[in-house]
Amino acid sequence: MKIGILSAGGDCPGINAAIRGVGKTAIVQYGMEVIGISNGFSGLIDMNTEELTEDKLSGILTLGGTILGTSRMKPFKPQAGDTVEDKPQVIKENYQKLGLDALVCIGGNGTQRTANLLAKEGLNIVGLPKTIDNDVWGTDVTFGFDSAVNIATDAIDRLHTTANSHKRVMVIEVMGHNAGWIALHSGVAGGGDIVLLPEIEYDMEVVANTLITRAERGKPYSIVVVGEGIKVPNKKNAARYIAKQIQERTDLETRETILGYVQRGGTPSPADRVLATRYGAYAAKLINNKEFGTMVCVRNNEISSVPLEEVGGKTKLIQANDRLVDKARNMGVCFGDKI
Ligand code: F6P
Repeated sequence: MKIGILSAGGDCPGINAAIRGVGKTAIVQYGMEVIGISNGFSGLIDMNTEELTEDKLSGILTLGGTILGTSRMKPFKPQAGDTVEDKPQVIKENYQKLGLDALVCIGGNGTQRTANLLAKEGLNIVGLPKTIDNDVWGTDVTFGFDSAVNIATDAIDRLHTTANSHKRVMVIEVMGHNAGWIALHSGVAGGGDIVLLPEIEYDMEVVANTLITRAERGKPYSIVVVGEGIKVPNKKNAARYIAKQIQERTDLETRETILGYVQRGGTPSPADRVLATRYGAYAAKLINNKEFGTMVCVRNNEISSVPLEEVGGKTKLIQANDRLVDKARNMGVCFGDKI
């Protein structure tokens, strides 16, 4: 069989480990030919491809980013300045021209939605979930998430010492889009005192009173972890808004840090390398078994698959009964809500 691999959407640590997992298993175990497609779905439109031999797949396990490049181009969504009219049709034709028997789409929610639509157009698709945000529906965890949580936790650890020296409130904003997974996990791992998640509506009065009470009890400093997707007025920056509100309402000296793209860069954690490798190897197996229209997933630490149809267009958010939220609450972490 001849298979294509592409990575689309925002990059994250572990994509290369996944490409290697798919590619090496496909070549070594199943004797398949593997074609790398550059820059997400764009590469299938402008035919930007190259064969991924075993040699090309060596030495990439620990590399951050993606050797294939990526883009946020959505073939089913016409955009201003489009030069190609019917992108899905061109993709279908080029898939045939390349002689592909299957296409592996490594990506987050948007990519899995596109993958599902291409599967409906008759292409043999296997999806592979990646994103630091951990918000892909149908899988317990995406690779990239563990690495991002490590980086965010390290940043929070560092804020503790400077916050303590200056007796300040430190607000740190982490990524995650509309999901609070990175904020919740790094907030718990880094001992955040207040954690604001997009999924839990916060009250600024509760946040301010919590900080005042902490100061009155003699706590010299506080750490506030904020998910970038929390609601703030007039689309203001989350950390800046929260820090300003805290300063005004409490008179406690407050500083903000926006962690940004460092959360997405650099070498994947060992856990992400293992997860991406397991995902990749399983994708090759699904192709060999002709189980198309599926996305690789992990549930209770078992790798399996889920129909793409069930995944497309959904987002996995933190639920009200989340156990980690509950544990954190019981230890006195404030989520900003009135309870
Ligand atoms: O989905 C990953 C992510 O890093 C989000 O956490 C963030 O909101 C977004 O991508 C940033 O997107 P872009 O790469 O388009 O700036």
